[in-house]
Amino acid sequence: MTDWSHLVDLEKCTVSPRVFVDEEVYRDEQERIFGRCWLYLAHESQLPSPGDFVTHYMGEESVLVCRTASGKIRVFLNSCRHRGARMCRLDVGNAKAFTCPYHGWTYDNQGRLIGVPQFKEAYYEELNREDWGLIEVPRVESFRGLIFACFDENAQSLDAYLGDMKWYLDLIFNKTEGGMVVMPGLHRWNLGGNWKLAAEQFNGDNYHTGAAHESMLKIGLGPANGQFLGDRPWVRDFEAKLENGHGWINFKIDMAGGVPDPLAHHMERMQAAARQRLTPAQSELVGCVHVGTVFPNFSILTFLGFLTIRVWHPRGPHNMEVYSWGMIEQEAPPEVVEIARKMQILTFSPSGIFEQDDGEMWGNSVKAMSGLHRRNFPLNYQMGAGHGRTDPDKPGLIHPPSTEIGIFGVYEQWQALMGGA
Ligand code: FES
Ligand SMILES: [Fe+2]
Repeated sequence: MTDWSHLVDLEKCTVSPRVFVDEEVYRDEQERIFGRCWLYLAHESQLPSPGDFVTHYMGEESVLVCRTASGKIRVFLNSCRHRGARMCRLDVGNAKAFTCPYHGWTYDNQGRLIGVPQFKEAYYEELNREDWGLIEVPRVESFRGLIFACFDENAQSLDAYLGDMKWYLDLIFNKTEGGMVVMPGLHRWNLGGNWKLAAEQFNGDNYHTGAAHESMLKIGLGPANGQFLGDRPWVRDFEAKLENGHGWINFKIDMAGGVPDPLAHHMERMQAAARQRLTPAQSELVGCVHVGTVFPNFSILTFLGFLTIRVWHPRGPHNMEVYSWGMIEQEAPPEVVEIARKMQILTFSPSGIFEQDDGEMWGNSVKAMSGLHRRNFPLNYQMGAGHGRTDPDKPGLIHPPSTEIGIFGVYEQWQALMGGA
């Protein structure tokens, strides 16, 4: 096994461009990162009833997530055992069984092979169907309705893996009794750029806002005072570097032009509900802008009353496929859901005015650093190094924006997993 740990320099806080552009590094990531980490799959609100299913990916593997008759969630590779054809080609649905489009083998939603055309005539009833069920992903666990799965049977629990990130996820997913629900529809799109560039930006990159989103600020679609750093550093406006490569950005802004009344009232109600459920330190932060990444590739972003969650799927070193859903509090009235839906499409969706700025940069970066000469010179992740603090009120290593402490944590974790051991 190749040891790639030399591509990250922990002392200098630098990362080699090869981490983003090299084919061999990319191949090893599939095994050592996507084969070992907990990967986000779906939210329980998408699968309320027995027979409900969604299809998704774990790294490059197509998977089928099923709610079985007993209510249990099971995850299978979405690939037929006969010739490997992709079984289910829908994003979402309800089914008791899945029939392969190639030769018609049929599996129930517990993965059992229950139908084989010409079983008698062509197989002489000698095929042992019990041996040829769908391949199951061994570990599936949830946190606050967020379903994750892991290919590594011996991995630590999801609870331990998320660690202190749970405290921050609770600001969104545990602030009301009903929690969050997925709004209908899935956005998915292909994008140039390495998956880590997107994951690291959501982990802790406030720094790009002034330059990459400058045009938005110029036309007044930004904070009322024109800056994205907040005015209560350390307390409310901060970034948190968390264990296992996770990271969180937290700050409060008043949007120029304010927000529509129904949304403002809804947010006040949600803050009041949060005070009943969360600790005082957490309740202080509810209603802020939250942006975060659960390592490796699950990110969230909430502001203007909506939440977008997304997975940056690797598609070679130079490309990714984004799966993104909008979410809203289960208690939100229909007019608020409609406002949130429009806000999300306007800002963070394939046609979103912010989203497009970011996507442009990720593709742009891998193109410009793919050359053989450029690869020899590292990228700089030194911002704020050594200046983080711990805080009795909140977990993680804290620093006000802007800093790259959290982002570099992504590469510390990457290095730990990509060493040769
Ligand atoms: S590939 Fe599925 S039945 Fe042949
Ligand atoms: Fe951005």
